[in-house]
Amino acid sequence: MSLRKAAVKTSTIIIIALVLIVIAAIAGYYAGAAVAPAAPTTPPPKPQLIIYHWWTAGGEKEAIDAVFDVFKKANPEIEIVENPVAGGAGAVMKAVIWGLLASGTPPDTFQVHAGGELKEYVDAGYLDIVDSVWEELGLEDVIPETLQAMCKFEGHYYAVPINVHRSNVLWYNPKIFDELGIIDKFGDPRTWDLDTFIEVARYIKENKPDVAPIAIASRNKWPLTHLFEVLLVLRGGPEVYAKFWTGMFDYKNPADPVWVAVKDVLKALAIMAKEGLFNANHPELTWDQAAALVYQGKAAMYVHGDWVAGYFMSVGAKYGEEWSAAPFPKAVFILLSDSFNMPKNAPHPDAVKAWLKAVGSSEGQEKFNLIKGSIPARVDVAPAYPDPYRPETADDFKKSTLVPSAVHGGISKEAFVTEMHNIVTSLVTSAATGADIDTLVDASTTQIMQAIDRTGLPDFWKGYTIDYFITKR
Ligand code: GAL
Repeated sequence: MSLRKAAVKTSTIIIIALVLIVIAAIAGYYAGAAVAPAAPTTPPPKPQLIIYHWWTAGGEKEAIDAVFDVFKKANPEIEIVENPVAGGAGAVMKAVIWGLLASGTPPDTFQVHAGGELKEYVDAGYLDIVDSVWEELGLEDVIPETLQAMCKFEGHYYAVPINVHRSNVLWYNPKIFDELGIIDKFGDPRTWDLDTFIEVARYIKENKPDVAPIAIASRNKWPLTHLFEVLLVLRGGPEVYAKFWTGMFDYKNPADPVWVAVKDVLKALAIMAKEGLFNANHPELTWDQAAALVYQGKAAMYVHGDWVAGYFMSVGAKYGEEWSAAPFPKAVFILLSDSFNMPKNAPHPDAVKAWLKAVGSSEGQEKFNLIKGSIPARVDVAPAYPDPYRPETADDFKKSTLVPSAVHGGISKEAFVTEMHNIVTSLVTSAATGADIDTLVDASTTQIMQAIDRTGLPDFWKGYTIDYFITKR
């Protein structure tokens, strides 16, 4: 073979080889692509609403579910992540929320009482302003001024209220009352004073020894302080009440008139405990279990908030037969309002806005309050109440003097109210064991004085005057 021929042959082989290599590479590439797993494509996360509340008892649960339905209808794409924390009045939930906020993992929204309780979160810098929701829903035109003031701090709204509850109501068993002729003998409970209340309880004990005259529940302590707050209004009137719970009085002076009323109420509670006017099993009971005693005829009376109406309706107890209610006293309305908010850095701010709109909507408020036992925060919503109790409440809300509840976050400081739970509970417990009443009352008074100091109560409302807390009528 000539040298030239050999060179041509070699280069042909090289070219063929190169072409084969290129073909193999391309085939390999496509073959590889065909078997490689598909690049992971994560679907967009489903929007959520992470919400905390404490409505787990009868009436409460059904009421919040009704608002969830309103929300879901308008926002079917948002998943509700519900975190119900059992314990009436937020007895357990509040600590959980403070922990979440402090650790920088806030939920999207949580139940909070308008007033002092809301202010504590605002002061701590945990909440966002929700003025835009108020504006969009035109809430200033339909929410009464007293309630507006309880949601507004330093000129901004921090929550949307869903209802107005009344804390001072006397729930009673009408059969027992009729049988003993209580109203004929003692008059309308709407006008009773503290002494009459004790007299009635004694009368019931005497004439029906197997019935507890007054139901109470102290498992979570707060229902006892609740009784204290109502009796303080009954004994001292709205001004004394407001001064006491805000610390706006000469609290270091034992002769101050506020102390006179407070001591009378402590004494009344100690007498009731010592004379066996309460159900003996109260340390085991929650608020709804104490309410049950009334409709079951095991107790005659219960001083508690009007979520009791929601509870009675949820168990099918019949108004007028198994339960009746009287504002106690009628002239004063101790109010509280459940509301929702938007924590700073809420994970789903759009969902929160949608939620607050459901909370503030006419439909949301109508459905919720029908079941809950409260009246709407909006005055333009007038549900067709199934019970005669609520129309009276709605009317009184316009006509009675209003003061916010202390036990339900309206007027006081949480740390002080917590101290009161312990002081009142130990007073009642010790009195029941037969301890001397005057000694107990003096000891409790000293403890309360110290608690006012220790918790810095008088500084909590710095810049406010007593008029802020009282809507006089
Ligand atoms: C209150 C709350 C009411 C009711 C009650 C018992 O603090 O405002 O809505 O639920 O506790 O749980």
